Amino acid sequence: MKQFLFLLVLGVTWLGVASAKQIVQGKAFERIIQVWLENQDFAKVSLDANIVDLKRKGVTALRYYAHTHPSQPNYLAAIGGDYFGCNHDEFARLPEKVFTVADLLESKNISWAAYMEDMPGPGFMGNYSDGSTRNGGWDYVRKHNPFVTYDSVTNDGDRLLRILSFDDFHRDFAARRVPQFVFMTPNMMNDGHNSSLEAAAEWSHKFLEPLLADNAFDERTLIMLTYDESETYENPNHIVTLLLGSAIPKAMKGTEDATFYTHYSTLSTVEYNWGLPNLGRYDVGANVFHFATEASGGYRGNKDPENLKSVNNSVSYPGFLHNETANQLPIPPPNLNLVGASGQGVLEAIKNAWRADKNKETPYDGSGRVYDGDKSPPVYKVPTL
Ligand SMILES: *[C@@H]1O[C@H](CO)[C@@H](O)[C@H](O)[C@H]1NC(C)=O
Ligand SMILES: *[C@@H]1O[C@H](CO)[C@@H](O)[C@H](O)[C@H]1NC(C)=O
Ligand SMILES: *[C@@H]1O[C@H](CO)[C@@H](O)[C@H](O)[C@H]1NC(C)=O
Ligand SMILES: *[C@@H]1O[C@H](CO)[C@@H](O)[C@H](O)[C@H]1NC(C)=O
Ligand SMILES: *[C@@H]1O[C@H](CO)[C@@H](O)[C@H](O)[C@H]1NC(C)=O
Repeated sequence: MKQFLFLLVLGVTWLGVASAKQIVQGKAFERIIQVWLENQDFAKVSLDANIVDLKRKGVTALRYYAHTHPSQPNYLAAIGGDYFGCNHDEFARLPEKVFTVADLLESKNISWAAYMEDMPGPGFMGNYSDGSTRNGGWDYVRKHNPFVTYDSVTNDGDRLLRILSFDDFHRDFAARRVPQFVFMTPNMMNDGHNSSLEAAAEWSHKFLEPLLADNAFDERTLIMLTYDESETYENPNHIVTLLLGSAIPKAMKGTEDATFYTHYSTLSTVEYNWGLPNLGRYDVGANVFHFATEASGGYRGNKDPENLKSVNNSVSYPGFLHNETANQLPIPPPNLNLVGASGQGVLEAIKNAWRADKNKETPYDGSGRVYDGDKSPPVYKVPTL
């Protein structure tokens, strides 16, 4: 047993070293680190002293909107290009045929990891931590870790080993081997869920300080601080997102960006940055971070969704994960004809998995429109070339 454990540790260490060594060059950055906070309105967050200080160090997105409420669907959307009708925080699972950003990254050997604070162990699939960590029960919660909801991640041992804790992040940061795509969820206190806006902002400022230091990373690094959703359901789901780090050109530090963004924008930006294929879902058509397109001068596709005014991004549309029987639908096939912001088509493995459904109706049309379960539900159509 001891020997086996030793080999396991050796194996994990080797994986980490091997993955960080080959850096894949991007158009605007070689690394993206997303840090997700919880449930605050743009108007209030903008005034917090710690956030105001962070704003000086990067670009503030003025029109970044979450998709719906509550938390879980927003996290799922950020890696899968849809939230599949999810309207709750309960246990959820998506079948292996649903691909994620992990598949896109791996197609170009771009290393990735998810670091979840207080997660009991690598690849933990339980609903929440038991309190043996720091703050009592529920430090770590599954609803804030989108990776374990996708069977396409959990059915693959190598992928499970990339879902780690913050202790692992600190180790990887010190060893200068943080992967190129990183998704981070602080625990329920530090992300503000069970504490306060001020506590989360103060934690963020402190946590990001070493990451924003000169030479913190060897490669251009984009650090994105965002919220999953707003607090007030009655208002449009407007959240603060800051784009920080060495990937932000000096001249852009302390500036604001009025482009319309959603959690699909990170997918679109990652695809654009590394010339990756796409998921064939709502990732295609989502606006790319303006600073990244400026850095490379190649993309002019950003625009406001045509139906922006009619959307109520507080209500989930029907779908596979909706918790009311009347609102449940099968998982839509990706649109295999879509071309994303990178100029690439749908990932070959996705085409292979969904080929039999290629002429079936799909809601994904690459238009960048936004949808809800109220006034603007998705429109299913047979894909056209
Ligand atoms: C669905 O989830 C919402 C949000 O948690 C909850 O308010 C509602 O009661 C749930 N409905 C059903 C049918 O479980
Ligand atoms: C990814 O790495 C594998 C193993 O080293 C190699 O065979 C493959 O050609 C690489 N793919 C790309 C796109 O670089
Ligand atoms: C997580 O919650 C779901 C639904 O409430 C339950 O079916 C499942 O057994 C739980 N998983 C664990 C590991 O406790
Ligand atoms: C956070 O609040 C939930 C109730 O919303 C509670 O069950 C949980 O124990 C709390 N977790 C922490 C770390 O305080
Ligand atoms: C959007 O939906 C929320 C939640 O149901 C509701 O409170 C709000 O009034 C709706 N907004 C609009 C503009 O219809």
